[in-house]
Amino acid sequence: MRPRLSLDRINQLAGDPAHQADMVAPGTADLSRPFVPEEHTQLFYTPVYATLSHVERLRYNQLFGLRLNEYIMTLEAELVERLLAPLRGHPNVRDDTAMCTALDTMVAEEHLHYAGFAKFNRACRPDLYPEGDDWCFARQPWWARAMFGVVGHLSRRYAFAVWYMMAMEEAAKSLARDMIGQPQTATLGELDPSFVALHQQHMKDEVRHVHIDALLIERCMDERRAKANARLFTLMLDGVVRPTRGGSGVRVVRQLVSDLPELAPREAELIDAVLSLKDNQRFQKSLFNRQIMPRTFEIFDCTPALANLGRKMVGYDRRAPV
Ligand SMILES: [Fe+2]
Ligand SMILES: [Fe+2]
Repeated sequence: MRPRLSLDRINQLAGDPAHQADMVAPGTADLSRPFVPEEHTQLFYTPVYATLSHVERLRYNQLFGLRLNEYIMTLEAELVERLLAPLRGHPNVRDDTAMCTALDTMVAEEHLHYAGFAKFNRACRPDLYPEGDDWCFARQPWWARAMFGVVGHLSRRYAFAVWYMMAMEEAAKSLARDMIGQPQTATLGELDPSFVALHQQHMKDEVRHVHIDALLIERCMDERRAKANARLFTLMLDGVVRPTRGGSGVRVVRQLVSDLPELAPREAELIDAVLSLKDNQRFQKSLFNRQIMPRTFEIFDCTPALANLGRKMVGYDRRAPV
């Protein structure tokens, strides 16, 4: 197991401005630059990507970057608080003042992240995000929001969604680390510095959140309900790894065609390419893998009920616990 931060250290770091995200500082984007590494976009994994022009790939990349921010915002708006509020009252948590402080800080930080990502997206494309509407691609339908509510409600007995939360928070941290380490993209030149800075700031808090997630799993995952948690987690993954016609990836393509109408004759081809990713091994491995979520995978390795997780999570390479 990798070394863990203690709760006292987590709380100490959270109070140090050098370790706090400042989501306002990054400023606004340069729209001549790509936002995300191309391997973090969906069409990159399909043959159609190489047939797009530079302008088309650049616009797709920027729209996908906005969608990625929305994806993180979904986690922040729909999942974190709904999970953390009930888990704060868990018998193994509620009497630990340091743990409660860490959870309260985490919730407050997620609110600031959400506001920072929403503001950034609006500044990039005010036409897509009119004042008061933070969603263009990843708007959750009512039933998905209701499902998040149920997941939160059940979390004291079935804490499976904390596995997902930890995986997503660790992936967000790794994305920032990768963008800082390699700002040069495959075909589109250097990443936009303000987009990188936004995620670099976000990473400062997420580094601590990942440690809190690991502690929550340790304290709140009920051994007696391990199999049910594993089944529910696998079920939840289904919606994540399988792009759908009504999903955010297809909405990015539709917006691309709306921005660049010369692509209209190819819209169906582009949408089919996104939908084909459900069977694309390289794409599936890019979503969940040990390089971007090493701490989460270590926890999976130590969980006997997740022995068959690799059947659904293609990138999960089960190893003996260290
Ligand atoms: Fe966050
Ligand atoms: Fe977080």
